[in-house]
Amino acid sequence: MVDLWLKDAKIVPENMIVSLGIEDGKITALKKIAPKREECINLRESVILPGLIDAHVHFRDPGLTYKEDFRTGTMAAAAGGFTTVIDMPNTRPPTDTAKAFKEKLKIADHKSLVDYGLHAGVGKLKDIKNLFKLKPASFKLYMDLLDDTEIEEIFKEIKNLKNEGHKHDGHEPLISFHCEDKETVNSSTLKLKSKGRYKPELYAKARPALAEIIAVSKALKLAEKYDLKIHICHVSTRESLELIGGAKKSDLKVTSEITPHHLLLNSSYLVKCGNFAKTNPPLRDQKDKLEFGSLNDVDIIGTDHAPHTITEKEQNVWKALPGIPNLDTTLTLLLTQINQRNMTFTDLKRLLCENPARIFNIQNKGFINKGMDADFVVVDMRKEEVINPDKFKSKAKYSPFKGFKVKGMPIMTMVGGKIVMDGGYLSKNQGNFIYS
Ligand code: DOR
Ligand code: ZN
Repeated sequence: MVDLWLKDAKIVPENMIVSLGIEDGKITALKKIAPKREECINLRESVILPGLIDAHVHFRDPGLTYKEDFRTGTMAAAAGGFTTVIDMPNTRPPTDTAKAFKEKLKIADHKSLVDYGLHAGVGKLKDIKNLFKLKPASFKLYMDLLDDTEIEEIFKEIKNLKNEGHKHDGHEPLISFHCEDKETVNSSTLKLKSKGRYKPELYAKARPALAEIIAVSKALKLAEKYDLKIHICHVSTRESLELIGGAKKSDLKVTSEITPHHLLLNSSYLVKCGNFAKTNPPLRDQKDKLEFGSLNDVDIIGTDHAPHTITEKEQNVWKALPGIPNLDTTLTLLLTQINQRNMTFTDLKRLLCENPARIFNIQNKGFINKGMDADFVVVDMRKEEVINPDKFKSKAKYSPFKGFKVKGMPIMTMVGGKIVMDGGYLSKNQGNFIYS
């Protein structure tokens, strides 16, 4: 006998009504009609999706928990329909040693409401091998902070790992990139700063599209030279995506991510919202930015949930910290786009469930099939709201999407067969490490 039935759920895009049986946190049955007299939740033909996987969050834990911690970050995730998150390494200390990695795992184990993985940072080369044993989702490299020679040394070290046959659940190491060329960013920023100008919209010029394009070309060359798998985070320009498309045609093992803000906003939001729209890479001018038409060529949507305090945001453009908290809003914004026919449920599932599971080697997630984890988000496609950051579960109560009218909202989130959000209310849960 199953533990629980989710009765009358609508599977999309097929619009098929099914009942899902859940046992020990897994999907064990898919039937047209749920058996009578067993425990069930009637979803009344609401759309059900696999729980969303966010491969790009910054939870600031440890070290910067005044901005966010693993509890509040995963509360925002659960509220927003995300059942798995992968945390970035730029915490204090950074997650670039085995010790720091283990400590962050303990924190997550203690505080996370949803399932989680961690990306590793790279500090000293000698730490790479020990870190890899702990199963990071990837090694994250910030090209805006590293010199070309440093990046190449890291590639050599990771190539050694691969040659020595080290594997992570049977998979070779993956390198994730923040692609903005350090030299280009530094020289453009310096020029603008020295003119003593402070308008937030200058930020888009201080870190121009060219900085990303140069960095993406460098990353692709390294992937080819060392025959390593790479993943390009937050692609923000059409030209970068074209370069990645070309590399894929030449059989390079490269995948790409876009964020909700780079998809939905352009640089005019720096004028409208000031530094609340400041992020790295910056929002792009309309002519350079990616559009819904480009989504076919993108592999995943990652939120790049990057919370800061209002005080940290309300400084001058050069001092204000970059980052936008997105976990509370991403799904509702995208459901709105589905209602407006700018994208489809098939796109949403591919970009936020299936591909993140494949790219980051997350077994048993991303699909609604027998044997998969019972991770779901149920959505109401008719529910309307206006985005109000005061209601965010994240500690960061600001957003360039403030005031956006949305139609389509998550109404229930379930992780491993347990309800973590129902009608906006959160319940306790203990998430698991995705590679355990
Ligand atoms: O806008 C950003 N914020 N981009 C990054 O690469 C880092 C992030 C952060 O950690 O605040
Ligand atoms: Zn990031």
